[in-house]
Amino acid sequence: MRIRVRVNGVWYERDVEPRKLLVHFLRDDLGIKSVRVGCDTGHCGACTVLLNGMPVKSCNVLAVQADGAEIITADYGDELMERLKRAFHERHALQCGFCTSGMLLASYALLRRNPKPTEEEIREGISGVLCRCTGYQNIIEAVKAAI
Ligand code: FES
Ligand code: FES
Repeated sequence: MRIRVRVNGVWYERDVEPRKLLVHFLRDDLGIKSVRVGCDTGHCGACTVLLNGMPVKSCNVLAVQADGAEIITADYGDELMERLKRAFHERHALQCGFCTSGMLLASYALLRRNPKPTEEEIREGISGVLCRCTGYQNIIEAVKAAI
C-alpha cells in the first residue's frame, strides 16, 4: 500500500506492507534511527513520536495508520525542541541515552500543550517513557529548565 507522511516537515511517499509497524517504517524505510526499539511489549516508550501532535508509541501503530499524518521525531529542530535538548545536555538528563528521544518528545508534547507545567504535571507528562538509568530527577530538572 502506498502512503504519504510528513516527517519533521518533509513529505515522504513510500510503498509499505500493511503489517509494517510505524517504528520500523521510520527506522528502516526512512532511516530515522533516533526512533528506538526498546522492548517488544509496548511498554518502554523509547519509540515515542508525535503523530498529529499527540505522543504515541510508534511500535503500537501500523505505518498505514499514519497515512497523511504529520510526524515529529527527536530530530525536529524548532526553538522548543532545541531548548529541551540543551537543557537535557546541561542538566545531565541522560546516561545511556536510550530513552532520550522518547523523553524529549514526551516533554515537547507536554510543553506545547502546557507551557508552564508543575513538577507533578511533568512527571505525568513523561510517565509513558521508562528510564532505567537516571532515576528521573535530572530529566524533570531539565524539563523545568526548558520552561
Ligand atoms: S519499543 Fe518499547 S514501547 Fe515501543
Ligand atoms: S538514560 Fe538510559 S534508559 Fe534513560
